Amino acid sequence: MRNHVNVAVIYYSATGTVYALAQAAAEGAEKAGAETRLRRVAELAPAHAVASNPDWQAHQERTADIAEATLEDLEWADAVLFGTPTRYGTMASQLKQFIDTTGPLWQQGKLADKVYGAFTATGTQHGGQESTLLSLANVFYHWGGILVPPGYTDPVQFQVGNPYGASFVADQRQLPDSDHLGAASFQARRAVDVAGHLMEGRRSALAAQEAGR
Ligand SMILES: Cc1cc2nc3c(=O)[nH]c(=O)nc-3n(C[C@H](O)[C@H](O)[C@H](O)COP(=O)(O)O)c2cc1C
Repeated sequence: MRNHVNVAVIYYSATGTVYALAQAAAEGAEKAGAETRLRRVAELAPAHAVASNPDWQAHQERTADIAEATLEDLEWADAVLFGTPTRYGTMASQLKQFIDTTGPLWQQGKLADKVYGAFTATGTQHGGQESTLLSLANVFYHWGGILVPPGYTDPVQFQVGNPYGASFVADQRQLPDSDHLGAASFQARRAVDVAGHLMEGRRSALAAQEAGR
């Protein structure tokens, strides 16, 4: 019997690059058989800052109907993939703000033992993709999460993959091509597979324990 895996893809995107990766990740998770929630975190920048960049304004309007991430999404998920643009080598404050509201779940141990991964975009090739993904990994350690990076576990990873997490250089505001979207999709598939194996292992362990009683 295949395990029923819940996946939350939680992202921030100002101008649509990370959103495209997030959509690909959500589709990948769905294709792998998971129930999936695509959620954006709340915008924190003041309206005048958003309005100062037509791409930012347009993207905000285009994605207004996507539900905002809540703590319940995290509690519900067996695997969580976080997406963020790189901001000075680390995650966007909008995503960090959401993460900084998770104290109540963390305190109850409800963030532990889930599968976690992250993906990002930069403006430049050496602009800090890995440092951004590693900054998210620090959070996962604190949560007692199970980090599932894509590594080099699929041919797509040798083409455009980043072993730390799907990444794209949004040079000249280009959107991710099909290869990079494929890497995001693969990362999600891998998260679903590992989460499914973990659930199966836990179920078997429980059954063995009950049988031994
Ligand atoms: C405040 C700010 C800081 C940024 N810092 C970096 C950076 O450190 N390295 C980099 O390559 N790009 C940097 N960028 C470019 C963004 O990473 C890039 O525009 C983003 O990945 C596009 O994603 P989005 O379309 O989903 O918003 C920065 C952009 C802004 C607005």
